[in-house]
Formats: sequence, C-alpha cells, structure tokens
Amino acid sequence: MDKKVTVVGAGYVGATAAQRLAEKELCDVALIDIIEGLPQGKALDLAEAAPIEKHDAHITGSNGYEASDRSDIVIITAGIPRKPGMSRDDLLSTNAGIMKNVTQQVVERSPDAVIIVVSNPLDAMCHVAYETSGFPKNRVIGMAGVLDSARLRTFISMELDVSVENTTAFVLGGHGDTMVPLPRYSTVAGIPITELLSKERIDALVKRTAAGGAEIVGLLKTGSAYYAPASAAVEMAESILKDKKKILPCSAYLEGEYGINGLFVGVPVKLGANGIEEVIEITLTKEENAALEKSAAAVRELKELLKKLT
Ligand code: APR
Repeated sequence: MDKKVTVVGAGYVGATAAQRLAEKELCDVALIDIIEGLPQGKALDLAEAAPIEKHDAHITGSNGYEASDRSDIVIITAGIPRKPGMSRDDLLSTNAGIMKNVTQQVVERSPDAVIIVVSNPLDAMCHVAYETSGFPKNRVIGMAGVLDSARLRTFISMELDVSVENTTAFVLGGHGDTMVPLPRYSTVAGIPITELLSKERIDALVKRTAAGGAEIVGLLKTGSAYYAPASAAVEMAESILKDKKKILPCSAYLEGEYGINGLFVGVPVKLGANGIEEVIEITLTKEENAALEKSAAAVRELKELLKKLT
C-alpha cells in the first residue's frame, strides 16, 4: 500500500483498529506495543487472515519504532483501560506518562504524521500529545465524538426500528460524563429526532449515550469498549488517508472557536489530508452553549490536574 498507519498499543482497541485498517485495504499497518511478542503475534495472525479476507495490506508488529518510519497517521491507543468503578479520569497520571513517552518516539520517526489519540482520559491525553509533539494543532486529533455519536445513532435506530444508515447524530464537548449530545442536529433520514420522539425518550437516549462507555465497562468487567472505538478511529483515519473531507465530531485544539481557548474539546471538524482542515462552528442555543461551557470546564480542570501531576 502507498500509505502507512502506525497503531501504538496492540491491545483490544489497537489490534481491532489494525484489523479494520487492513481489511479495508486503506494502508500498511505497523503495530507497536511494549509487551514482547504481543504485537508480533497479532500482526502475524492478521497477516495470515489476509488471503481469506482478500487484502494485500502488510501488517508488521514490533516492540521498537523502526517499523513506524514515515507513517501518514499514528493512532495512539497505548495505556491502561478502565475497570468497573473507575472513571476515565482515574487513568490520568498513568496514561499521561505513557502518552508522553509514546509521542516522543513517534514524532522522531514520523515528523509529518497526523496523530489520532484514543487513550483516555481523551481530551487530557490530546494535550499531552499536542505539547509533547510540538505538532501544529491540525495534526493532533482526539477520537471521541465519532464514537459518542455512533452510540447515539445506535440507540436512535433501536428506538425507532430504522436503519442505522438513516441516522446522524451530533455529540459535542469533552469525552466524559459532561459530553453534550445535540438532539436538534440528530436526524433520521434528515428529520430531526425532536420531531420523531418525545422529550422523555430523547433524554433517555442522551443519558444512555453519555454513560455509553460505562455501560460496556460494567458488562465486560475486565476492560472497556473496543469494537466501536476502533471503528471510530478508523473512520477518522480513512477520511484523512483518502482526503475525503468528512465532517466528524472530534476533539480539536480550540483557539477561540465556540468561545473556548487553549483546550481540546469535541467539536465538528473537517478531516482531510492535512488533518483538521476546518473547525465547523454551528449555532447553539443558550442551554446547549451552557452545557458545552460546563463540559469545557471539566476538561480544563483535568488539564490543570495534569499540570500538577506531571
Ligand atoms: N508503549 C506501547 N504500548 C503500551 C505502552 C507503551 N509505553 N504502555 C502500555 N501499552 C500497551 C499495553 O501493553 C496494552 O497492550 O497498550 C495496550 C493497551 O491495550 P488494552 O489494555 O487492551 O486497552 P484497550 O482496551 O485497547 O484500551 C486502550 O483506549 O479506549 C481507550 O480507555 C482506553 O486508554 C485506553 C485505551
């Protein structure tokens, strides 16, 4: 393939993302992890599925970063996942250390890459990757909104018994309990769900979306969600690799947009070959704005805490 994506962290999210990237024949994949044998084993296993899955993407696994040389995109999933009873924020100091170390190594080998951050707590980890990499803000992007809106779309489709393909959903704000799902901008075949569902039902779907990650953690007990997070990261990567210019909700470094300054917060962005090519500003009602401000305040708090810890 003429494109290369490095996935750091060959755990559940990373290996699933590697599988999807390869099976969609989007790029070659370098899978990296600190556990000896793990990335090598998963890469070989994925390579051995290729003849059956009918793709020619090369997948290599390693503990070092040589294989990541000149990647177009680096997806960082390295870190520890949540266990029941833990919030994403509980992962803060451990994952910040991992993120810093990984970013330093990645940047040396791929100075022109776009970094997609997946590790939690997402918005805070974006700050670590942004500050450590020294990359311009368009090349450090957090995966959150695509996942959160996919969850809301799933719940809308279940509720109305319609194809998921007919649904769109918008979720803004930080990737945490304060995320801001926007029912007015969430539709079924172009019809806002506010026309199709009662306020009570919408509130219930929105609540389930905000707690969507915790619902999976509660069921799995030993880790957190990975199929949908991997799909979300790969949708972002695809839009960049193919310069599709999809509008997707992602965590982006804001400098005044939505009245927020110097923070990574989830907003709609246009993703193309240059990473974030535009932050789309949509008009929000007073209540929506207040919810976004509250969510941004939660991200800011975490960023301050991170400063104290590191
Ligand atoms: N360098 C490379 N890999 C690392 C490092 C490091 N410094 N530290 C940890 N890892 C690897 C682990 O060895 C592990 O294989 O990261 C992998 C993480 O995989 P899992 O434990 O399976 O976690 P996963 O479910 O994939 O979640 C990863 O994504 O959604 C977020 O909250 C989640 O932060 C978590 C991340």
